Amino acid sequence: MKQEARQAQAEGRVIGFVPTMGALHAGHMSLVEAARRDTSPVVASIFVNPKQFAPNEDFAKYPRAFDADRELLANAGVDFLFAPSIDDMYPPGFRTVVNVEGLSDRLEGRIRPGHFRGVATVVLRLFEIVAPHFAYFGRKDAQQVRIIRQMVSDLALDTEIMICPIVRESDGLAMSSRNAYLSAADRNSATVLYRALQRAEEMILAGERDTARLITAMKRVLAAEPSGDPDYVEIVSSDSLEQVNILRKDCLVLLAVRFGATRLIDNMLVEIDDSGAAVCSV
Ligand code: PAJ
Repeated sequence: MKQEARQAQAEGRVIGFVPTMGALHAGHMSLVEAARRDTSPVVASIFVNPKQFAPNEDFAKYPRAFDADRELLANAGVDFLFAPSIDDMYPPGFRTVVNVEGLSDRLEGRIRPGHFRGVATVVLRLFEIVAPHFAYFGRKDAQQVRIIRQMVSDLALDTEIMICPIVRESDGLAMSSRNAYLSAADRNSATVLYRALQRAEEMILAGERDTARLITAMKRVLAAEPSGDPDYVEIVSSDSLEQVNILRKDCLVLLAVRFGATRLIDNMLVEIDDSGAAVCSV
C-alpha cells in the first residue's frame, strides 16, 4: 500500500482515503462517493482496530463481511482496498499511542476510556501508510472528527479532513454497522435518538436557545422508550466539546442510548449565525 501510494504521489495524483472497520453500509459508501468526486486514486481501508475496543466491548463479535465489502468497494470504483492484519498495523512490541488530550475523555470517551486513543493511533498509522491528500469521515461520529482534526492540525499533517453528512435509514435511524445487533423490537424503538434530535430541532427553530430546556425535552422523548437506556444527552461547543448553557456559534447536540448490549450514538450540528438565526443539520 505504501509503495502504491508513494507512486501515485510521484505521478502527481490526488489520493482520497476512506478509513473504515468494514461491515459497510450506505453511510460508508457516501464517503466513497465523495472521495470519488474529488480524488483519484481512492483508497479504502478495512481494519477492525483492536486498540479502540475496551476489553469488555464487542471486538470479537464486531460484524465482519469482508467479501461483500470488497465487492461493494470495487463496484463503487475504489482503486485500492487496504486490509491489513493486526500484525501489519501493530507489529509485536508496538508501543506508541496517540492521545489527543482534553477532547478524548469527555462524551464517548468518558463512557469508553481509551477509545479515542485507539482511534487516533490507528488513523495516524493509516495516514502514514496511505499518505492521503484528502481523508473522508462521517459526521455520524462527530467527536471522532473533532479529535482527528485536532491531531492533523497539531502534527501539521498534509491531509485535509473532509466531513460528510449523516446517512439515515428511511425512519431516521442513523446507519451503523451496530444496528445489525438490534432485536426487531429494539430496532423500532431505536428511532428515538432521531426523534429526540428532531424535538430539539423544532424547539431551536422556534427560538429556544437554553440548552438545559432542550436537554430536558430530549430526555422526555427518550423516556417514552423504556427499552432504551440513555448514556448521555449533551449540548457542547463544536470546537471545545465543552458544555454550553446558551446556544451560540457552532454547537453539537449529542446523545448515546443503550438498547441491551448495543450502544447507539447520534448527533445534530447547530450553527447560529451573527444575527442569531439557527441552522440545524441532523
Ligand atoms: P466505522 O465505524 O467503520 O466508520 C467509518 C466511517 O464511516 C467513519 O468516518 C464514520 O463516521 C462513517 N460513518 C459511519 N456511519 C455513517 C453514517 N450513517 N453516515 C455517514 N457516515 C457514517 O469510524 C470508524 O469506523 C473507525 O473509528 C475508524 C475511523 C475507521 C478508525 O478505526
